Amino acid sequence: MNIYDSNLMASFLEEDGYIEAQSIEEADVIIVNTCAVREHAVNRVLSRIDSLKGLKKKYPHIRIGVTGCVPQHLKGTLLEKKPFIDFVLGPDNLKRITSSVKDKAGVFVEFTDTALYSEVSPARGKFPEAFVSVMRGCNNFCSYCVVPYTRGKEKSRSIENIVHEVSKLSKRGYKRVILLGQNVNNYNDRGNGLPYLLSIIAKIKSIERIGFLTSHPAYFPLVVIDVMKDEPKIEKSLHLPLQSGSSRILKLMKRNYTKDEYIKIVDKIRDTIEDVTLSTDIVVGFPDEKEKDFTDTINMVKRIGFDSAYMFKYSPRKSTLANTFVDTVKEETKKKRLNELIRVQSEITRNKSESYKGKVLDVLITGENEKNLLESNGITLYNKRVVVKEKLRKGAIVKVRVEEVKGWTPIGVPLKEAIGSKQSGESSHRLLS
Ligand code: 5AD
Ligand code: SF4
Repeated sequence: MNIYDSNLMASFLEEDGYIEAQSIEEADVIIVNTCAVREHAVNRVLSRIDSLKGLKKKYPHIRIGVTGCVPQHLKGTLLEKKPFIDFVLGPDNLKRITSSVKDKAGVFVEFTDTALYSEVSPARGKFPEAFVSVMRGCNNFCSYCVVPYTRGKEKSRSIENIVHEVSKLSKRGYKRVILLGQNVNNYNDRGNGLPYLLSIIAKIKSIERIGFLTSHPAYFPLVVIDVMKDEPKIEKSLHLPLQSGSSRILKLMKRNYTKDEYIKIVDKIRDTIEDVTLSTDIVVGFPDEKEKDFTDTINMVKRIGFDSAYMFKYSPRKSTLANTFVDTVKEETKKKRLNELIRVQSEITRNKSESYKGKVLDVLITGENEKNLLESNGITLYNKRVVVKEKLRKGAIVKVRVEEVKGWTPIGVPLKEAIGSKQSGESSHRLLS
């Protein structure tokens, strides 16, 4: 979402005649777009901002702005503490970027119901993949999470507007779109939900892959699974944050589902879609997490067998309910639990990756492999990143036989028959230049 928002601001500025600087030293305007979800992220932002102070002293004409969730979280205090910052904009105020870089210094952090930014099509992502924000904000108030306080209430973009943006991307040759929402299951445009939106986007010609993030287990419409199954373009992959494997902790987190309800969704999706891949987010060391709760999480991770997971140590956030809970878990215990969880999940991810050996996969080529420019990076319909041992055209879809797995990455060679090149009317998927 932050990448999308950065592109959004870049779009507003480019429309106003600005051009992207190639380095920070040549920039007249420096914008730090920020995330406040964990203390660690905020500290990194603050030290990054401090590193700009010297530059401002040397070149007083430059404008420095801080945008996104950190200024929303800290409001005016950020400017008070760091007077060399010219302006701060919360996530609902990004449209002010053009006036802020010129003259309107100050703090703009009010929430609005209308900040959907439908007037620009910022999605440019990394060709041939692009994020498309379909809704903003979150109404859930999970007890540990700052997002509802920094991004405000849920608001959905209209289907027409999203279709317009994706169609523009398709005309520019983009092949993969990832529909974004903090709680994408709650997408709602005049009664039309995520399943309908997915089926409409799937009709857009030459978009070959459609992913969506992030699903919430408590509000997951099971009909989404049927749409995923029936529509060949929709990725057979689900990001479904578990957060904890203990129903007691899930209740304290205000997640509105139990461990068993989570398992039910996973069973249903695995029964319906063969080989579906699952990824998740997990927080360890939540206040009052006992050894037994942590063991429940480890057992759940083993039971589900996630293909990948983002794992975090609980970080207390101002304004949240959990911040008022007594935290009995020692820092040392939190670290130990995180390390243990990472160890268990890494083993699972490695085993899952190993199982790709010898398989033939349909791979969308996403770019060159930075480590070996004669190779390409790609991604499967199951959201697995792979390396292909040949330089291929970005956006082509090729059949790849996996020969080996290095780390967690399957590495393979293209078969002679290309799928994507036929669809785009070209005779070969190979790069001729
Ligand atoms: N501490 C640690 N992790 C958090 N997340 C959200 N809030 C916190 C917090 N206070 C994690 C959740 C969420 C992901 C985006 O970040 O796992 O799904
Ligand atoms: Fe935060 Fe919960 Fe909303 Fe996700 S669903 S953004 S964890 S409040």
